[in-house]
Amino acid sequence: MRASLPPGPSIHPLIQGVGLWSRPLAYLERLRARYGKRFTIQFPFTVPFVMITEPDQVREIYTAPADVLHPGEGARVLEPIVGLKSVILLDEGAHLEQRKLLLPTFHGERMDALTDLVTEVTEREVASWAEEPEVALHPRLQALTLEIILRAIFGLEEGDALTALRTRLARLLSYGDNPLTLVPDPSPRQLEILDRFGPIKGFLTTRKEVDQLVFEQIDRRRREGGGGADILSTLLEARHEDGSEMSAQELRDELMTLLVAGHETTASSLAWTFARLAREPTVLARLTDEAGAGEDDAYLTATIQEVLRRRPVLPNTAPRMVKQPIEVGGWLYPAGVCLVANAYLLHHDADIYPDPYEFRPERFLERPPGTYTWIPFGGGRRRCLGASFALLEMKIVIASVIKTYGLQPAGRVVEMPRRRNITVRPEAGAAVRLERRAALPVAA
Ligand code: HEM
Repeated sequence: MRASLPPGPSIHPLIQGVGLWSRPLAYLERLRARYGKRFTIQFPFTVPFVMITEPDQVREIYTAPADVLHPGEGARVLEPIVGLKSVILLDEGAHLEQRKLLLPTFHGERMDALTDLVTEVTEREVASWAEEPEVALHPRLQALTLEIILRAIFGLEEGDALTALRTRLARLLSYGDNPLTLVPDPSPRQLEILDRFGPIKGFLTTRKEVDQLVFEQIDRRRREGGGGADILSTLLEARHEDGSEMSAQELRDELMTLLVAGHETTASSLAWTFARLAREPTVLARLTDEAGAGEDDAYLTATIQEVLRRRPVLPNTAPRMVKQPIEVGGWLYPAGVCLVANAYLLHHDADIYPDPYEFRPERFLERPPGTYTWIPFGGGRRRCLGASFALLEMKIVIASVIKTYGLQPAGRVVEMPRRRNITVRPEAGAAVRLERRAALPVAA
């Protein structure tokens, strides 16, 4: 068994960081070609990150005991927005407790109620899109997914409260565009300095304004009593094991977590979908036929699975901090390094997916995605809590857009991946030509 770390580049950590930030996927490919299927990257001021890209090793990571690997510690960069009580930042017992409180949110009847809301918001927004010969869809999809998640969380109707939350939150989330927000573990003092000068000036002020609006919603809803179909209502009914309700701070942190985790990820995944569909007329035609026939949505599901395979928007999923030495694939990792199940490299391994760079939804009709070979939503006890909501939302948005518009590519070149917030999105924001269609024939 080997105890040192797998090989990796020896250039300065800053250059490795710039490489991954500026060419998030190509850089990973280059390192795999050079160092093999597991390699180590080092960024400035962080622990080493070991990239794991083989299914057996991914399984070992996802099934490791909770006290051995800590994904919560690996996600610290999100703390300034989501807060210390966020399920994403916690580990072991504290994580399980928050996860149990959140689980009912996206289950059964709750999901049915959210389906109506997502459909209503999507159809209204998509129908109102201005028809332009050439348009970058990503900003529209961001506005749409923000609207959906905001309405799903707070159950608010159009009005001052929704407008105030929408504008402040959009501003708060836009700070994530800057690599400086990825400074690991900023101390309160560092944050204060960053708030006064430079590119994330005003961050703390905006966060305070957002917090005030969120706490107002929590107070108002507590006074009025729950009972709605929205996520806040579900969480107000949730109880800890000792029977106590969630505190206002816990509610605030989990609501912010759902906003942050659920908005940009889905917007970027949808952006990749439309950027791709505009260049795949055969796939688009089959999807349009399926939508017109109104029978099942197997091909739409397979198309989404293929988009998430080709472009997992969190290619490094959540890094796991090693707390106690662990053996993975015959290699012993010491405490203090981060293990990363790398979705992008796993999804582009010709031993798992023949012709991995080809876009072919049919592959998922032939064989459904595997737990440890298809990981856009991560896995194990940390698997994305909103995965079924995200898939539902993507289906509704894609169906609505292709029923309303014809899609063509706007430029001649395929869009390169660029980092935005925590996700990887198409460089030109999914530039397409939209043309409003005549209504599709209604299924008998
Ligand atoms: C296409 C859209 C989405 C993608 C690709 C995605 C992906 C991910 C990934 C990779 C993780 C880390 C999993 C791991 O480390 O094993 C995660 C965690 C999480 N996601 Fe998502 N996500 C999406 C949408 C959503 C939505 C819509 C919500 C909620 C509204 C959501 C809520 C969460 C939460 C709460 C966690 C933390 C789970 C935990 O730590 O226990 N996500 N997501």
